[in-house]
Amino acid sequence: MADPVSQFATRMAYGARQVPRVAWYIGHGMVMRRLRQGVRERAGERPQTRVSVPDRGRLYADMAVLFRQDLANVEAGIYPLPVDHDGTLSDLLARSRLFFEDLPTIHRRRESREIREVLTGQTRGKRPNYYLQNFHFQSGGWLTQESAQRYDTQVEVLFNGSANVTRRQALVPLYEIFAGRDQRRLKLLDVGCGTGRFLDSLKQAWPRLPALGIDLSEAYVAEATRHLKRWCWINVVVGNGEALPIESESEDAVTSIFMFHELPPKVRRIVFREFARVLKRRGRLVLVDSLQIGDEPDYDAMLKLFPCSYHEPYYNSYLKEDFRTIAADCGLTHIRDVNAFVSKVMVFDKR
Ligand SMILES: C[S@@+](CC[C@H](N)C(=O)[O-])C[C@H]1O[C@@H](n2cnc3c(N)ncnc32)[C@H](O)[C@@H]1O
Repeated sequence: MADPVSQFATRMAYGARQVPRVAWYIGHGMVMRRLRQGVRERAGERPQTRVSVPDRGRLYADMAVLFRQDLANVEAGIYPLPVDHDGTLSDLLARSRLFFEDLPTIHRRRESREIREVLTGQTRGKRPNYYLQNFHFQSGGWLTQESAQRYDTQVEVLFNGSANVTRRQALVPLYEIFAGRDQRRLKLLDVGCGTGRFLDSLKQAWPRLPALGIDLSEAYVAEATRHLKRWCWINVVVGNGEALPIESESEDAVTSIFMFHELPPKVRRIVFREFARVLKRRGRLVLVDSLQIGDEPDYDAMLKLFPCSYHEPYYNSYLKEDFRTIAADCGLTHIRDVNAFVSKVMVFDKR
């Protein structure tokens, strides 16, 4: 056990990094809601019908549980004191500007339900049809550099600054299978890696572990490559989770964070089968994604409301998806689910 002085120092350092970060993103959320309210009032809209969702006090209390768990993981030696690598103040302000600039257009898309702007003569047929939508109502969908630069602010605002903390919870089941092994001889694949924030956390824990990130978006892969350039033994490439450019039985672990709720049910099964194919025997699959109906009953109404504010065409089917059966059909065994605030970590093993 750590001596009280170093334990105190760790806790202070953790708070000094995380508290301003949470305040920054909660502040963005407050301004965003104020702006949205102003637009609604000017348009003479009536207040929306209230449904029973947890109040902010409850949300913040549950979020605090997640942060305490994150700190406990650090104190247990599962991963080092995390660094979020958000960049300089001027980087943060530039991303903040991008975030706020897109809000009026997002509002327009939400009202008009125009969600196919990225399906054009140039993109049609180059990516699957389900992918060519303005997910989250954001400009550029997954396809543009601006979208890739805006994404992390958008997600952290949605999660009140807890998105990276949530992603880090995937490191716990990885630690269970990696501890005591030579990290240089292991291989990990992260599918739908987006801008590479999870891979950054992974490399902080295992800097010499060879890791590959795959994503369907060229722009997000470019952003991830830029973000991850401080690390060695890492590569990020464009690819489709439905047909991974990876040898069978070659990966010790596969991870996928916040991707499955964006896939149609049929595609979820294809991607799962690919994960099972590329995993070695005794390999582990770790998914992090939204809570589902019944995981935290007080949150059910809030989860059902989510696709009203964010374009998430497959989220309602995700909420009821039976991942244990999908896994079993691919030869993977469900090990456990662990809730992490509004998300959960799902763990599966290939026997
Ligand atoms: C909500 S984002 C999650 C990104 C990242 N994992 C994170 O933690 O923020 C979903 C990502 O999945 C990617 N994606 C969606 N369908 C995909 C597919 N079939 N194959 C590979 N990537 C896909 C998108 O391009 C996007 O970057």
